[in-house]
Amino acid sequence: MTETNTSAPLDEAKVEAFAERFIGALNESSLMMMFSIGHRTGLFDALDGVDWSTSAQIAKAAGLDERYVREWLGAMVTGKVIDYRAGDASYRLPAEHARWLTRRAAPENLAVTAQWISVLGCVESKIVEVFKNGGGVSYECFERFHEAMAEESAQTVVAALHDHILPLSKGLEQQLEQGATVLDVGCGSGRAACALAKAFPASAFVGYDLCGEAIAAANALAREQGLTNASFRTQDITHLDESDRYDLVTAFDIVHDQKDPETVLANIHKVLKPGGTFLMQDIAGSSYLEKNVEHPIGPFGYTISTMHCMTVSLAQGGAGLGTMWGEELAEDMVKKAGFTELAKHKLEHDFINVYYVMTKP
Ligand SMILES: C[S@@+](CC[C@H](N)C(=O)[O-])C[C@H]1O[C@@H](n2cnc3c(N)ncnc32)[C@H](O)[C@@H]1O
Repeated sequence: MTETNTSAPLDEAKVEAFAERFIGALNESSLMMMFSIGHRTGLFDALDGVDWSTSAQIAKAAGLDERYVREWLGAMVTGKVIDYRAGDASYRLPAEHARWLTRRAAPENLAVTAQWISVLGCVESKIVEVFKNGGGVSYECFERFHEAMAEESAQTVVAALHDHILPLSKGLEQQLEQGATVLDVGCGSGRAACALAKAFPASAFVGYDLCGEAIAAANALAREQGLTNASFRTQDITHLDESDRYDLVTAFDIVHDQKDPETVLANIHKVLKPGGTFLMQDIAGSSYLEKNVEHPIGPFGYTISTMHCMTVSLAQGGAGLGTMWGEELAEDMVKKAGFTELAKHKLEHDFINVYYVMTKP
């Protein structure tokens, strides 16, 4: 505050630098929406590996309206994402960019993540209301949340299950091969549980989620894949009437947005058999703002918290931990729930999250 106080002389270089940075942010955030549109319309895929093409050729290949495609290309060219040749008004997506933006690039398709900006944008007016009046914005208000989440999960969790995630717990894969009972809490659209059910037919998988829309998608996926060992049910995991039942409980990116995370963690402990494993993926970072100042996605983390993770919890009268609850608090809370021993892993493919592996004593 004191630096911008009217009585103090302004550092003019700092003034100019901030305005420049703001313009940069305006352009970059605009591009995020265009990345999302390019992904959803299939434009990046239509451009993948294709030589110089006109907007009409690109629109035809993607099955889209040329006028919109041409304007989108304008954003992509001025944003230095796509190359432009003025002589014949043609465009080309450089291979180096296609490598990060197409469905072929999965599980490293960055355009998937761009969708969050638009998903959050849809609820801005509701968020402004709760800034004034308190409370929260509930899951049902988010257009396409579960769809975007399923795509994100396919990249960060499903694609990494066998090579990176399951090996974090010694002997887990053998246990799943022999036949284990598994619960995925907050399973969303069920991509992870279905992938595991397919890979381990001798094991039985159950997924619980609060949202009927996500459960419908999960059951449809299980049916589509002909899985007889995966079932999904709408269930608030704050109330779990089971105990000593599962060999493995997984919680992929769900604890921080719980209404009552303490009860949920206690429930997970209760439903596990003694010796059972709890695998929790949650956001990397500190519980202390001062330690997150250099966090590689700090602004994104606190933004998605304000506009989704914290607010969905507050909408239920919940704790509102927020996305950036941090590893210190996470460790304290799982210990309080009875998981006295835990191993924490950072995986190269997923710098956004930390993977905690715990055993019920
Ligand atoms: C960030 S999403 C993660 C979904 C999924 N695990 C994935 O990785 O794709 C969080 C999920 O937790 C679910 N959820 C939140 N609170 C819940 C509760 N109390 N009981 C069951 N599910 C809950 C939400 O509906 C949402 O699908």
